[in-house]
Amino acid sequence: MVGDAGDFIMDIPHLRRVDGRRQLIVDGKPFIILGGEVHNSSSSSLAYMEPIWPRLVSLNLNTVLLPISWELIEPEEGKFNFNLVDGLIEGARRHNLKIIFLWFGTWKNAVSSYVPAWVKTDQKRFPRAQDAMGRNLDAISCFSENALEADSRAFKSLMRHILEVDGGHHIVIMVQVENEVGLLGSSRDHNPLAEEQFAKPVPRELINYLQSNVRSLNPYLRCIWGGAGFKTSGDWREVFGAGADEVFMAWHFARYVDSVAAAGKVEYPLPMFVNAWLGPSAYAYEEGRPGEYPSGGPVARMLDVWRAAAPHIDIISPDIYREDFSSVCREYDRLDNPLFIPETFRDERSAAYIFYAIGQHDAIGFSPFGIDDILEPEKHPLSESYKVLSGMMPLIAKFYGTGRMMGFVDDGTYGYHHVESLWRVRARVRGFSCELGDYQLRIGFTRDLAERARAVWPGFPYEDKVPASGLIIAVGSDEYIVAGMNFMLRFLPKDSFSLNVGILHVEEGVFRDGEWVPGRRLNGDETGHGTYVLFDDKPRVRMVKVYSYRLSDS
Ligand code: DGJ
Repeated sequence: MVGDAGDFIMDIPHLRRVDGRRQLIVDGKPFIILGGEVHNSSSSSLAYMEPIWPRLVSLNLNTVLLPISWELIEPEEGKFNFNLVDGLIEGARRHNLKIIFLWFGTWKNAVSSYVPAWVKTDQKRFPRAQDAMGRNLDAISCFSENALEADSRAFKSLMRHILEVDGGHHIVIMVQVENEVGLLGSSRDHNPLAEEQFAKPVPRELINYLQSNVRSLNPYLRCIWGGAGFKTSGDWREVFGAGADEVFMAWHFARYVDSVAAAGKVEYPLPMFVNAWLGPSAYAYEEGRPGEYPSGGPVARMLDVWRAAAPHIDIISPDIYREDFSSVCREYDRLDNPLFIPETFRDERSAAYIFYAIGQHDAIGFSPFGIDDILEPEKHPLSESYKVLSGMMPLIAKFYGTGRMMGFVDDGTYGYHHVESLWRVRARVRGFSCELGDYQLRIGFTRDLAERARAVWPGFPYEDKVPASGLIIAVGSDEYIVAGMNFMLRFLPKDSFSLNVGILHVEEGVFRDGEWVPGRRLNGDETGHGTYVLFDDKPRVRMVKVYSYRLSDS
């Protein structure tokens, strides 16, 4: 699989800006990552991966996220072994999958457990971060130039090798640089190298960034900068007051990671991203202090610092293991940052979250963690969600950034809404209304209805493990593509005084390569006699056409 220099240079997987959004382009076409990340140790053995590949295919993944560690590719300084890289690329090729490699270099989950033995054991050359008492921590200091040089060299060699073996094939489409960086055990590094930097003025580039982006800054960052008087010069404490430690660490971690990424991009400029061990929500300051979560990592409130310090990082991604999935997505989806979720729950919730992430945030991809633990892929609802969405990919890509696509998920953040009548049960259900295309949409989550139905109808055949979620596209003025599960949808006029809305028809079906292949025509009981479109507990897609009629002839 030797790359063919010349013809691939134009066609390297890249991010393209479309209508203010960014799309991942692979082989000239928009590509949405329907991914999954394997457990940390799985990709260290090709034999171990063998039975996993077919399960990934059955789950309808198009991309797998695989760790590649520094310790395995450079076991002896300067002697590289890429057999594992080659075998993984070959395995993905055989199964028609794309790869995102995760570079476990100087840090993985805020510690340095994946550096080679020759790095781990040479504390003099590769000094550790220290806490306020001067105790060495389990992580190499991000102020170590030796570590930065050695990591960059290894990463550069890795990228050069990927170019050589895969530059003409594009099986590898993106690379994560390090994993969940930041400092644990102390809000800031107190190594003498760090102390020296902490006494220096805040870099001009960071001040300039803050000044140019003052209106859009993350509220926490603006608050600590403002609290200290919006100073435009001074040392870290003078400019950021009590929040100085975390900003200082964020700047220096981001600089380090950016240099590693830059070294790799010189060889092969694939899109590169970092992932965040989430800290407190931007709206809840009391949920932990820096050092209890990795201080200086790319948490929401440090996004601006990372953006200013790391221009070679294309995407800053959240690993979402929090219940408030939608609020994390809102924090990371910014004009300067497309949403990509490299890690999240792999249980039934994942089958729902994907519709929200793509529909509401134009996410470029989604990937539950520990995907290799799903032993019966055909029974997991994620496989059905991925199947529905992979056929829709050209259509979804067309509507990115147009405002004609929306998504939702019942992650507990919606209130009770209205009374619905379904299965002869009246109930208040959670849900919401919105406008999309030429109509008002009213969405009710059916879990509440199912619970009440079960109370009056024992054995009610309804599973509700998967939260309500959906993705809706207004493809025409009166035509909608609706996908998802566990909700009911009604259409209302925007002007409810003179008009009413009816369903012209509902089709179930599937998309194949963006083309609609219709199945049953749904009517009668299946649509409440033309009043709603109902989605049960299996991910499905439907084409709905509506019409409006006047309430009075006069
Ligand atoms: C987040 C890390 O990034 C992953 O590599 C893995 O360790 C998971 N946590 C475990 O839940």
